[in-house]
Amino acid sequence: ALKDNTVIVVLGASGDLAKKKTYPALFGLYRMGFLPKDVKIVGYARTKMDDAEYHKRITSYLKVADDDQDGQAKIQEFKQFTSYVSGGYEDGPSFAKLNEVLQAIESKYQSKEANRLFYLALPPTVFIPVAQHLKEQCYSTTGKNRIIVEKPFGKDLESCRVLLSSLKQHWTEDETFRIDHYLGKEMVKNILVLRFANIAMNAPWDKNSISNVQITFKEPFGTEGRGGYFDEFGIIRDVLQNHLLQVLSIITMERPVSFSAEDIRDEKVKVLRAIPPIERSDTLLGQYVAANGKPGYLDDDTVPPNSVCPTYAATTLWIHNPRWEGVPFILKAGKALNEAKVEVRIQFKDVTQGIFKDISRNELVIRIQPSEAVYLKLNTKTPGLNTRAIPTEMDLTYKRRFTEAKIPEAYEALILDALRGDHSNFVRDDELDVAWRIFTPILHWIEGKSGPSPKPVPYPYGSRGPKELESFIGKYGYKRTVPE
Ligand code: BG6
Repeated sequence: ALKDNTVIVVLGASGDLAKKKTYPALFGLYRMGFLPKDVKIVGYARTKMDDAEYHKRITSYLKVADDDQDGQAKIQEFKQFTSYVSGGYEDGPSFAKLNEVLQAIESKYQSKEANRLFYLALPPTVFIPVAQHLKEQCYSTTGKNRIIVEKPFGKDLESCRVLLSSLKQHWTEDETFRIDHYLGKEMVKNILVLRFANIAMNAPWDKNSISNVQITFKEPFGTEGRGGYFDEFGIIRDVLQNHLLQVLSIITMERPVSFSAEDIRDEKVKVLRAIPPIERSDTLLGQYVAANGKPGYLDDDTVPPNSVCPTYAATTLWIHNPRWEGVPFILKAGKALNEAKVEVRIQFKDVTQGIFKDISRNELVIRIQPSEAVYLKLNTKTPGLNTRAIPTEMDLTYKRRFTEAKIPEAYEALILDALRGDHSNFVRDDELDVAWRIFTPILHWIEGKSGPSPKPVPYPYGSRGPKELESFIGKYGYKRTVPE
């Protein structure tokens, strides 16, 4: 456990993010013994309720099996150091009241130095007033102040710049922790180790050996009731511009000088800067329609009729640097597909033809979820009295190899990093800027800001995606290997 006195304030404590991610992660860290000693957690939201009501809510957020005695006991302990303050997000006196509560907590610490970590689990409309009130009224003068913020960080390059500069009036880059929760995922964190701790991986990691790379995100459910929010953003802002681009930057960055946050992020920014904005012709957009007894996107009452918002997108990015010139990086993501899966698939080039015919390419697959795995498709001689090569796999499935390991939740990893003041797995301001630069032109095109909007192609709910996908990836040299 960390030694510093710390108070964690969760703003938006009764919202969806707090319920699904923030509180379960805080509790997970507590159970594992990672929260600072004498930590206190204060929830803040508009809903009026007393601590008893708040504790009841928190208990409902934390999933512990009925027969897990230790877990049940830990929930009781957890409640002892959590309390609640109600107040508005744009109302100064409420923040003054919050500050009094924080001071009262800190006055009981032996050393009066205490850090404050503010977690904004809030909609973007109130980011700026809350950041300002926190700075003006709840900023500790004795310890470190840190603020965690979540996407959306604007809707395009310009709005992102406006948001960042407004937040910067109150909070420095060093105090700010911008979450992209994919950076907290175990397998995403493993990519740097796979790449830079293994010469066998590192050596063929370039245009000479690699034909194409796909980074894929698939979800088996639609926007169900969340369509109003989704329609304003679309799949590109929801998943590609942040989560998949982050994974891409880690797959393609040069080796950082050290594992320090700044060295890592310098390299990520450098590779992203070598990517020009996406071309329309490198884009495939889809929208799901009713099938298999499930409603289509446009059947959702919260979605405007005739919306052309994509729920599926495949886009190909090109990196103009000596390592990657000419290698297509295909990012694809969709809702309402046939399965839940996030993976990176690196397809190597053909071996020089001659002695072998019709053999499969090597592929390295990094499966981020579900069921973390790394596997390499290799050709092997068929055992026995023949010389035929057959495709096989070298398979590192975590469940089999690390049978005892508990894979932490992304939010657990990230909150712990923020408590430690480590920015490595948070998004730096200039990273956001380059990310928006890459995607803004196609987003504006989709929204009809530069001519008529493209119409997404339909795909059935529960399918593998638009039928055009096969020829789309084929165009970039992907060759289907033998079925898995
Ligand atoms: C969020 C998106 O950022 O990531 C959601 O807004 C998406 O639409 C989610 O479902 C996916 O996260 P995970 O951790 O379930 O892969």
